[in-house]
Amino acid sequence: MSTLVIVSHPHLATSRAHRHLLDAIGGVRSVAVRHLEALYPDGRIDAAAEQAAVLPATRIVFQFPFNWFSTPPMLKAWQDEVLTVGFAYGPGGTRMYGKRLQLVLTAGGARDSYRAGGHNLFQVTDLLRPLETTAHFVGMTMLPPLVLYHVPNVPGIPVPADVDARVAAFALQYRDLLAAPEAAIAALQR
Ligand SMILES: Cc1cc2nc3c(=O)[nH]c(=O)nc-3n(C[C@H](O)[C@H](O)[C@H](O)COP(=O)(O)O)c2cc1C
Repeated sequence: MSTLVIVSHPHLATSRAHRHLLDAIGGVRSVAVRHLEALYPDGRIDAAAEQAAVLPATRIVFQFPFNWFSTPPMLKAWQDEVLTVGFAYGPGGTRMYGKRLQLVLTAGGARDSYRAGGHNLFQVTDLLRPLETTAHFVGMTMLPPLVLYHVPNVPGIPVPADVDARVAAFALQYRDLLAAPEAAIAALQR
């Protein structure tokens, strides 16, 4: 199995969580990582290069911090530029078909805020439905997301005391997920 990790983080240099996540997955066999903001500092995505990177991957990971209950802008732009007619959908557009999509995200909000009646009203899986629908639309299967809650990295917002330990544990979980054999990944779908 070949995995392509598409990372979108607008401010990786000041990241608390995602820098550690990238350190943790560095060197995992059969995993390629592309950080969009580093590859395209002017914001202009090379769609042909991204499509070429996607083709050999059987699993695609979107790794990102939740930004206004969605992906950061570069990851949205990646979808717009890469998942084009004739490539991902429409006549002849079958190149994403059969691949798996795994979302790995971090959220400033606590797990308890993501529920009906909570501060953020909905579960994260509900808020991720546009991505789930996109995956379905282009013939991909979405795996259950891996979510790290309560890791705010916003000036003025208090940082939980246990954040570093939770980031470290999550990073190991993420690394193990990427290193897991095909059978373990398939089991996630059941
Ligand atoms: C512009 C912006 C929007 C954000 N939107 C959300 C959000 O919708 N939900 C949430 O839980 N956290 C939100 N956050 C908090 C980030 O998700 C959090 O700081 C990030 O996941 C921490 O990862 P890092 O240390 O790698 O930056 C937002 C942060 C920023 C800067």
